[in-house]
Amino acid sequence: MSRMEFNVQLQSEAVSRSVKNLVDVGLQKVPEAYIRPENERPTASPVYSESIPVIDLHGFDDHNQSTVINAMSKACEEWGFFQVINHGVPEGVIERMVKAHHMFLEQPEEEKSKYKAEGHEKPVLYGTGFTAKGQKVLEWRDFLMFIVAGTIDAQTLQHWPPVIRDSALEFVTEVRKLAIKLLSGLSECLGIPDILQSVMGYERLLLNYHPPCPNPDMTFGLSGHSDVGLITVLLQDDVGGLQVSHNGRWVAVQPISNAFVINVGDALQVLSNGRFQSIEHRVVPNYNQARISIPLFCAPANSTIINPIPELINEHNPSKYRSFTFGDYVAYFHNRPHSGKADNLAFARLD
Ligand code: OGA
Ligand code: NI
Repeated sequence: MSRMEFNVQLQSEAVSRSVKNLVDVGLQKVPEAYIRPENERPTASPVYSESIPVIDLHGFDDHNQSTVINAMSKACEEWGFFQVINHGVPEGVIERMVKAHHMFLEQPEEEKSKYKAEGHEKPVLYGTGFTAKGQKVLEWRDFLMFIVAGTIDAQTLQHWPPVIRDSALEFVTEVRKLAIKLLSGLSECLGIPDILQSVMGYERLLLNYHPPCPNPDMTFGLSGHSDVGLITVLLQDDVGGLQVSHNGRWVAVQPISNAFVINVGDALQVLSNGRFQSIEHRVVPNYNQARISIPLFCAPANSTIINPIPELINEHNPSKYRSFTFGDYVAYFHNRPHSGKADNLAFARLD
């Protein structure tokens, strides 16, 4: 078979293969299923390189607490995004997680495919793109997702791929501590100590992989979306590609080695009655380099009722959102393609 014929064959099989596998076997052009309409491409609007806030958590537990909290509050109001350094997650834990992620990726496709499944409630799920119903254009990424709600017991761990088990457990344990510290700080910002930690009941660990892309101007690694939960605590490697919407412009997040990127999710926007912003973000792929990112999504349990925290509501600050069950919101989100952010929270907005 000629190289061209081979590529034509790959195009027709594209939807059933992982993107890593497509690239590994020699794909030369992004398959049709991944190509965005021209007005929605990464190149459709300019991207600025402005620095999102970087917050040094050193001293968070003692003398510097109010400085750190003020900085977090401002960042969540103005950007919905910030990076943290001196966050307390040991470098060794990060290194072992990243290494284990690569070891998982390097396994044969048959091995990885054992973790494929339909739906979103499996303890571990391997897949490609964003698997919402109605997703029109696929996304240039493979992922492995773990549900890590509550205590991670031996039975849960048995479902996790052996090459990743120990490192992922260690990583989740440490990053969860950071998440709780951040939620505690944000509760202080709202003036109601401990409120947000008490709402956290469900977490997902996601290992994203974006292989090098032959046409990075035609497709997204992840198209524009907001995260549904309370906060996301994300590790990215030094390749870059994450962009956040800020005052109507796209801003590229500059990777900082071993830092975590923190962002506000939709549930936190509602709880704070719109004071903290859950901001649209997306990932562009890279022509030369593969990229990984590892977010921990911290969310309420599905049964939790979400509405603006009553103490924040008064006649000058009326409630902007109705009450809803978090699970209903997630179901709504997963039944829609990634399509920006505004129309998702319309689900709960009171006009
Ligand atoms: C996500 C996400 C951003 C990134 O997985 O929800 O937005 O930098 N990831 O990979
Ligand atoms: Ni996201």
